[in-house]
Amino acid sequence: MSATLTTPTTVRRYHVRTFGCQMNEHDSERMRGMLESLGYSPADEPEDADLILFNTCSIRESADSRLIAHLGHAKRMKRERPDVVVGVGGCWAQSVKDEVFERFPFVDVAFGPGQINRLAEFLTSDSLSAQGYFEFEGFPAHLPTKRDRDHQAWVQIAVGCNLKCSYCIVPSTRGRESSRPFEQLLDEVRALAADGVREVTLLGQNVNAYGRDLRTVEPLPAELLPYAEAAKRPTGLPSSSGPTAPSGPGVPSAEGRPAADASGPQARPSTVRPRPRTFAELLLAVADVDGIERVRYTSPHPKDIREDVVAVHATRPEVCQHIHLPLQAGSSRILKRMRRTYDRERYLDRVRMIRERCPDIALTTDIIVGFPGETEEDFVETLEVVDEVGFDGAFTFVFSPRRGTEAATFTDDLVPHPVKVERMERLVELVQRRAHERTQRFVGRTLDVLVEGPSRHDPDRLRGRTSHNKVVNFTGLGEPGETVAVEITSATSQSLQGEMTLLSRLGVA
Ligand code: SAH
Ligand code: SF4
Ligand code: F3S
Repeated sequence: MSATLTTPTTVRRYHVRTFGCQMNEHDSERMRGMLESLGYSPADEPEDADLILFNTCSIRESADSRLIAHLGHAKRMKRERPDVVVGVGGCWAQSVKDEVFERFPFVDVAFGPGQINRLAEFLTSDSLSAQGYFEFEGFPAHLPTKRDRDHQAWVQIAVGCNLKCSYCIVPSTRGRESSRPFEQLLDEVRALAADGVREVTLLGQNVNAYGRDLRTVEPLPAELLPYAEAAKRPTGLPSSSGPTAPSGPGVPSAEGRPAADASGPQARPSTVRPRPRTFAELLLAVADVDGIERVRYTSPHPKDIREDVVAVHATRPEVCQHIHLPLQAGSSRILKRMRRTYDRERYLDRVRMIRERCPDIALTTDIIVGFPGETEEDFVETLEVVDEVGFDGAFTFVFSPRRGTEAATFTDDLVPHPVKVERMERLVELVQRRAHERTQRFVGRTLDVLVEGPSRHDPDRLRGRTSHNKVVNFTGLGEPGETVAVEITSATSQSLQGEMTLLSRLGVA
């Protein structure tokens, strides 16, 4: 059932197929980096590859079904070329673990999201038998990365999730929440900036929980002092007796241990009590890195979005004018069943707080339709919140029961499929209408656009993105990674059209 891994006589080639979210995209970049450091080169098509990898997602049933179709294709390839190695990584692999080998006996190696580094171990061993790696070991920071884009990069700031949203499989596929050390992250961002990266997106399942499990004796930056009390308020300290910084190869030992900073060169008096790090100070520090022009992050949790983070959006031009704030549902009753830990009023209060400080900021969201027990009245409440907030965009999902989750046991009051479909249509219509209305505010304005490359529809035009995360297709000149001034001439719910300003063309603006 397994391929024989002999010393290659020719260069071995790999093909990685990625499903799921940005975390998986980033994990795939790390897989590619690792494979290239082992001497593999990329193959555009699986047919040309000696190693076929699937980086899987299990967030909804549709993700599982798509993967299973791809695995069927890999099985046929393996029949024709028994030497090909088939690997399955990511969240779906983690959720089924060794069962993957029973269901798909042609799979040679399977590994969870925290175990990418084990793939190298497998490929360089003489193993003739299938292997599965499913421990949660934190973030292997030492892996090389082959970025998809030259000027934009993802930085994973934490692994796992400590929340228990009743519909969600992620806590069981990505394990407990653990923040990566502050200095390690800054080193990573500095290295990215030196390599030409202009925009970073900080990734975590609940990014604003960042740092609760770390300790430092460094004082909070002065501009965050007014929010120091608020920063302590909602979350408190972890219940375990000590901090839980990730460990393992490549993880410097300093951050996360109470004594570490105090024993360093800038040791402070022992009376200074260690404090947790905060997401707001990480944002500030990343924004201060030379060469970094834009900082984004995804996703914050509405229960934890606080004044300190919003103040950083208001005062730092590098911190983008966009927050993705997943709503999930507008009915407090359904939010409670989802175990989201906020209600409709709290969500709306957070939106008011954000808009007070940052009136022009773009807000986007995630919404689930047809959660078990969702009545017409509950759904209408979701429509009301969508209307009231006026999101700049939304990802909308039909509820999908996931194995092992609490909501998968709510089988008494399932919403019939045609009702889900009909609600989805009404929701999408409203989301698009409000998004279209919102984007009109950009028409006539001149916005800074970070150039990404040629427009997908018209190679004579360029494509880029505003701080609000809106795609702009425009006429003008500019290289990927450059920021140019574009006058916006029209807007749809999805994208903006424009023309580069004359001054920008002349290189003076
Ligand atoms: N940690 C992130 C989201 C991760 S999953 C957060 O909390 O925002 C991305 C989105 O998928 C979720 O926000 C939710 O809207 C959707 N989702 C998750 N589980 C789902 C399920 N079982 N059925 C339908 N949609 C789901
Ligand atoms: Fe899932 Fe909720 Fe954690 Fe997001 S916050 S990953 S939805 S459990
Ligand atoms: Fe992402 Fe899918 Fe896992 S959305 S966290 S790859 S289940």
